[in-house]
Order: sequence, then C-alpha cells, then structure tokens
Amino acid sequence: MENGKKIVLSGIQPSGIPTIGNYVGALRNWPLLQGEDRLCYYCVANLHAITVKQDPDVLRQNTLSLVALLLACGVDPKRSVVFVQSDVKEHCELSWVLNCSTYMGELGRMTQFKDKSSKHADNINAGLFTYPVLMAADILLYQSDIVPVGEDQRQHIEICRDIAIRFNKNHGDIFTIPEGYTPKVGARVMSLQNPAQKMSKSDPNPNGFASIIDTPEAIQKKFRKAVTDCDGVVRYDPENKPGVSNLLAIYTSFTGMSMAEAEARFAGENYGALKNGTAEAVIEGLKPIQAEYSRLMGSVDYLHEVMEDGARRASEAAARTVKRVYAAMGFNA
Ligand code: TYM
Repeated sequence: MENGKKIVLSGIQPSGIPTIGNYVGALRNWPLLQGEDRLCYYCVANLHAITVKQDPDVLRQNTLSLVALLLACGVDPKRSVVFVQSDVKEHCELSWVLNCSTYMGELGRMTQFKDKSSKHADNINAGLFTYPVLMAADILLYQSDIVPVGEDQRQHIEICRDIAIRFNKNHGDIFTIPEGYTPKVGARVMSLQNPAQKMSKSDPNPNGFASIIDTPEAIQKKFRKAVTDCDGVVRYDPENKPGVSNLLAIYTSFTGMSMAEAEARFAGENYGALKNGTAEAVIEGLKPIQAEYSRLMGSVDYLHEVMEDGARRASEAAARTVKRVYAAMGFNA
C-alpha cells in the first residue's frame, strides 16, 4: 500500500519482441489494473535478460521498443510508473540482501532454472540460479500487493512470498506479502510448433510464436503451419488435443468468446478454418496496438522521457524500502 492505494508490480524481459503469449498472459492485464485505488509499477527487466547472452545493441533496442509496446498496449505512463530495471540501483542492492535469506535448495527446485540450464548448457551462470531472488527484489522493493503474471511465473511468486515471510520473521515487519494474479484464459499459451512447450519470445524457431508486431502475412503463415493432430475434430481437450486446444484458447482470448461458443463456431469445419479464424482474430486484435507502436517508435525522445520519469519515481519508492532493510540489517541507512 502507498497513500491508501494498492501496489501492482510486474515485469517483462527485453529478451526479444513479446509474443501473443506475453500479451494475453500478462501485458493485456497491465492497463486493466490501472485505477484510482491502485498504483502500478511496470518494469522492463533488462537485468534478468542478461542471464542469457545478449548483444548489447540488440538489448538496448529491445528495451526501447518494449517501452513503446507497453504504452501501445494501454499502459499510461502518467498513471503508472514505467521504468527500466537497471535504472533503479536498489534492485541489485536488495537482491544481494535477499540472496542471503534464500536457500540453494529452494532455488534448485525452480523449473525455469532447470529448463534454462538445459537449454543453455554452455552458460549455466550463477545469475540464472539466483534469478528468482532478483525477481523477489523487484516485487518487494515496491511493497507490492498484486503481481500480474502468466502461469510460468507462479513458482517465482511463491518463492518471493516465502523469502518475504522469512525475512519479516527474522527482521521485523518490512515487506508486504504479495499475491500473484493470473488470468483465467490465456495464462499459458503454448508454442504453435510444439504444443507441449510454452510459447516463448526467445524460441529459436520463429514459427513457434507470433510476436505482437508480426505482419498480418507472417501471422497467417505461422498459424497455417501450426501443429494440430489427425482426428480432424475441433474440440477443447488440452490433454489429448493440445495443438487444437491451444488454437481455441488463443481464439477465445482474442474474441472474448467462451470456449463453448468457439467450439460451436468451428463445429463441422476443418482445421484450416480454425487456423484461419484464429489468425484473423489475432490480426484484428493486434491492429490498434501495432498502429500505436509504430507511432511511438517515431518519438524516441518521448520514450526516453518516459524512462527517465519512471526511473525517478521508482527510485523514490525503492530507496524507502532499502533504507528500512539496511537499518534492519545493521547497515548505515
Ligand atoms: P517474461 O519476460 O518471460 O514474460 C513476461 C510475462 O508474460 C508471461 N508469459 C506468458 N503468459 C502466457 N503464455 C505464455 N506462453 C507466456 N510466456 C510468458 C509471463 O508469465 C510474464 O508474466 N521473470 C519475468 C519478468 C519479471 C517479473 C518481475 C515478473 C522480472 N521481474 C517481477 C513479475 C514481477 C519473466 O521472465 O517474464
């Protein structure tokens, strides 16, 4: 809470252009949470991104375009605090303190660590292991109440809560204990090429994901190639028909239809119709975002102003928490 308002915080890594999975699982909810009784902090998590090798020029560009995309999705930088993680030094400061309150065993259980270390076997760095601690610092620095995320980040919210509860027990009531907030539909959009895997912006196979700024032609092509199954019936059954169910979930996320309505819409039709219909719904849904994104990318000075203003406002709140934490640790504060 800050001035009687609930605090909302979330982040997204600039490790590529966001996918429609990022959009329906998280970004779409960010502007919806803006309200009179809430203060939202939305962060471009570039410190997290370097746990995997990044080209600095590409990272800089992705950071800028991600700020533009957040605004294009409806985040209002006057009502919310939009900032870049590395611009607020307190994230690293608190992260170190929390590292000393987190157990190796807890971190070793994180499925994202296991996934990423098998994908990047040549670069299993310590940052990859302590990634959830930095994420806990992001959340706890702002005394966040609500953290909107997709399904894949739920485990990281759980460990953040565990760290905060333990810290409070040992050092006094310093942190608000946050709650995760996951949408009912679209919390886990799967890859178009491998429906057993989540859709990811860093997928080396570009046919696995549709990005928010893909052209209509690219979106159509990717959906046409989407993996389905061979029984030819359009029915929602994630266990036995993961590819078709994923398309239906994307379709309902973009049209607002219920699953029963979507099944009825495609009853008796072949998979071609489902793929086309879903691509069309995605293209239509992304149109206004893409137009606003292009406009904003023409105003680079404005985007830099947003980042500077966000960093200043985020730093003020973050510094207050670090001061309390340092005092509790016995450091000069
Ligand atoms: P990241 O950048 O991987 O994803 C950003 C958000 O998108 C959600 N998401 C998905 N939702 C549905 N289907 C998918 N296929 C899909 N892929 C991603 C994620 O759950 C996330 O909400 N560690 C975070 C970034 C972060 C953060 C934070 C989040 C850094 N600090 C503090 C919350 C609070 C991450 O890598 O998200």
